[in-house]
Amino acid sequence: MRGKFIVFEGPDGSGKTTQLRLLAERLASEGTAAATEREPTGSALGTLVREVLSGRRVCAPQTLALLFSADRSEHIRDMERLLGEGKHVLCDRYVFSSIAYQGLDLPTEWVAEINRPNTERLMPDAVVYIDLDERDCMEHITRGRDAVEEIFETREKIKRVRENYEYAFSRLSPERLFRIDGARTPEEVARDIYACVRPLISEG
Ligand code: TYD
Repeated sequence: MRGKFIVFEGPDGSGKTTQLRLLAERLASEGTAAATEREPTGSALGTLVREVLSGRRVCAPQTLALLFSADRSEHIRDMERLLGEGKHVLCDRYVFSSIAYQGLDLPTEWVAEINRPNTERLMPDAVVYIDLDERDCMEHITRGRDAVEEIFETREKIKRVRENYEYAFSRLSPERLFRIDGARTPEEVARDIYACVRPLISEG
C-alpha cells in the first residue's frame, strides 16, 4: 500500500517546522513511522539554494526559482521511492512555497509553470497550512532569532507571501487543504493537525 504524502506549508515564523516534528513524534509513539523531509533539501542543489537565501551567493530571481524546481525534481525521486515502499512522508515545504516566495519577484503563473513537471509527478494527499498573520510571524522570528538572517523575513514580505499562498492553494482541491489557525499554543495547534491527518493515514 502506498504511503501518504503530507506537505507542511506556512510563512517563516508560522511554527510549521515545530508542528511537523510534533506530528512525526506523535505518529511514531503510536507505531506509525513517517519519514520527515524538507525543501530545500540537503543535496548539492539544495545547498546552493541555501547559499543564495543566506546572501552568501547572489543570483537572478529566475535562477533561484529554477534551482528550487530542480532541487525538487530530484527530491521527488527519493520521496516517490519512500511512498512506493508504503512509508508516509511529511515534507516541510513543497511547490506551494515556490509560488509563495519566488512569486514575490516573478509572475506566480511562471513559477507554477516551471514546477508543472513536479506537480504532474507528485501532488500531496494533504497540505497542512499553518495560517498566522504577519505580525505574529514576525514576533516569532525576532524572538527565536539565530545568526543567519534570511532574505524573506520582513513583515511586508510575509504579508505578500500569505497572499501568494492563497493563489497557490486555489489550484488544490479544497478537501486536500487543512488550514490550521496558528495563533494558539503549539499544543493546541498540534492537536488540531493530528485530528486532520490521523484519519487520512488510517484510511490506508
Ligand atoms: P525553511 O527551511 O522552511 O526556513 P527556516 O528553516 O529558516 O524556517 O525555508 C527556507 C527558506 O526558503 C524560507 O524563507 C522559504 C524559502 N523557500 C522558497 O523561497 N522557495 C521554495 O520553493 C522553498 C521550498 C523555500
